[in-house]
Amino acid sequence: MASVGILLIVLALATGNISADAQDVDKGIGELLATAMNFLNQTLSRLLEQSLEHLHRVEALWDRLTELEHNMISSRLDSNQTLSNLESREQKPPVCERGMNETVSEPFIILADDSIGKQIRCDAHTDTGGWIVFQRRAVGDVDFYRNWTEYRDGFGSLSGDFWLGNEALHKLTKEHSYELRIDFYADGQVYYAQYPTITVEDEENKYRLGLDPYSEGTLGEITGSGLSYSDRGSFSTFDQDNNDYPNVNCAVSNHGAWWWYNGRVHRYATFTEMKMRRV
Ligand SMILES: *[C@@H]1O[C@H](CO)[C@@H](O)[C@H](O)[C@H]1NC(C)=O
Ligand SMILES: *[C@@H]1O[C@H](CO)[C@@H](O)[C@H](O)[C@H]1NC(C)=O
Ligand SMILES: *[C@@H]1O[C@H](CO)[C@@H](O)[C@H](O)[C@H]1NC(C)=O
Ligand SMILES: *[C@@H]1O[C@H](CO)[C@@H](O)[C@H](O)[C@H]1NC(C)=O
Repeated sequence: MASVGILLIVLALATGNISADAQDVDKGIGELLATAMNFLNQTLSRLLEQSLEHLHRVEALWDRLTELEHNMISSRLDSNQTLSNLESREQKPPVCERGMNETVSEPFIILADDSIGKQIRCDAHTDTGGWIVFQRRAVGDVDFYRNWTEYRDGFGSLSGDFWLGNEALHKLTKEHSYELRIDFYADGQVYYAQYPTITVEDEENKYRLGLDPYSEGTLGEITGSGLSYSDRGSFSTFDQDNNDYPNVNCAVSNHGAWWWYNGRVHRYATFTEMKMRRV
């Protein structure tokens, strides 16, 4: 800027009407300086304006960056929160409950159930999960021809075939309301049946079964009435015949044990799982 001003002054001095009269010279130089000053002032003002404009732009940019930084920090906080939620969910002991298929990737998990003092096999996927499996015959490595005591206490292995135990069933259904589901493969077909309630009485009452009538499923298609015939049936084993069928012990004749009512049994299955879920 200064150089522009000096250049102007020099140019003016060189080309202007410089009179010999000293007063005129003074006056001429005065006007010249005023013009130069004016020019400088205008130039400076314009530059200042531009600088201010740039400054505003920089300020706006700064604000935007600060905002972005805040966003990034808060989204990192969010994801930290999500992470810590996930961690605390993993740390909490899992419960066999409906809706768990979203969080549990395995088809089943083995859990400790303090209320019955036993481990349980929890079906985490069927119909959104939450099923305590109490009978499983899938592998064929376990003999189900067992005595009363064994059915009372349970037998087999939770990762294979097993019976959870009548005492456990009684304790569970005494404490809470449960629905019942049976998954069943026969002749290459998949069937299931659901009953809105299942109750099992105590040992004194021969672990008598209580069911609400068959509510939904496909098992009824091959048995006519699903499990409903077992409703109000007492439990029978080869050494304790509690069924109402005279002169025949169904547990012996069917080589198993069940809540026989009329001595009928599903014989066709290659896979069965009986399970219950809190309602
Ligand atoms: C410079 O310009 C501004 C506005 O353009 C004016 O207000 C100010 O008086 C001027 N200064 C001089 C020394 O001319
Ligand atoms: C998020 O968690 C990591 C690791 O636990 C930690 O280093 C980081 O400081 C946390 N970030 C925020 C914004 O809390
Ligand atoms: C959970 O169950 C629901 C309903 O049956 C189903 O739509 C969903 O795909 C299942 N999710 C998983 C992870 O299995
Ligand atoms: C039931 O079977 C188990 C295992 O075979 C046996 O140890 C037990 O003595 C039997 N109980 C009765 C009452 O027969």
